Amino acid sequence: MTRWHFWGEKEFSDVYENIYIRSVMEDWFNIVFEIVRQIDSARRGAKSLLDVGCGEGHTTKQILDRIKGRCRCDLLEPDQNALSTAEAFLSPENNIGEIYPRSLASFRAEKKYDIVFTSHTNYYWALNQKDYDRQLKKVVDLLVKGGRALILTLPQESDHYRIMRREIYPRFNYAQYMITFYKKMGLRVAVKKLKMRMYVGDILSTDKNFDLKTFYKFIHNTDSFPNDKESRGFLEKIKRCQRKNYLDFKDYLVIVDRRPF
Ligand SMILES: C[S@@+](CC[C@H](N)C(=O)[O-])C[C@H]1O[C@@H](n2cnc3c(N)ncnc32)[C@H](O)[C@@H]1O
Repeated sequence: MTRWHFWGEKEFSDVYENIYIRSVMEDWFNIVFEIVRQIDSARRGAKSLLDVGCGEGHTTKQILDRIKGRCRCDLLEPDQNALSTAEAFLSPENNIGEIYPRSLASFRAEKKYDIVFTSHTNYYWALNQKDYDRQLKKVVDLLVKGGRALILTLPQESDHYRIMRREIYPRFNYAQYMITFYKKMGLRVAVKKLKMRMYVGDILSTDKNFDLKTFYKFIHNTDSFPNDKESRGFLEKIKRCQRKNYLDFKDYLVIVDRRPF
């Protein structure tokens, strides 16, 4: 008889894993491929990279595995446990340089980078607009001349924001704000508007609400489960926004080039 060995690896009950269950992998990998294309085509190439807020390194690996040519990537992540996991996960197959257990704000860079990239971390950079502006500026200050910053984030029209019961992230976090900010700085800014569908057909086809409440926690960035009234209100918003059982989070990839002189 053959044994099933994998019960010990079963962890699909938490909020973070929910993202992986719901997201359409083809949409996500099209985003990864676009990031890789932007790294490969950057004037300075992909020699030295920094991933800001790498988490456990899953997105980092998807990107690094596909970059053409030699490169070395430093990791910045304020959560020490996530960073240790990322280091252990990435080191066997990817060229990882320094690892920094820091937030973007507290990071004191020892060098400049050809590429700085970040995937869905800008919401946590600052508590107010003034500090957020400082972090936006810092991202480009981390670049060598001719370097490129790649920031993956959500636009105002994202279904992620549309299904929220209340505003969780101040509006300066929306992609449109940083685009205007960088243009005003006189930088060259390009934007790739990408599809990022999330499946909600499971939630819409049952009266039970465990998955609805878990999804609520993810969307509202909270550790607490909502009460029944709150989750019913959330369900109504999902119903209004969904198209054929999918939401579209509509990722924007904001590409900022530092002038080569
Ligand atoms: C939504 S997760 C994204 C993780 C990873 N980039 C990915 O795409 O899978 C947000 C990450 O940002 C990190 N983070 C939170 N505050 C940060 C800050 N001030 N500077 C940099 N990263 C931060 C979190 O610890 C977390 O790992």
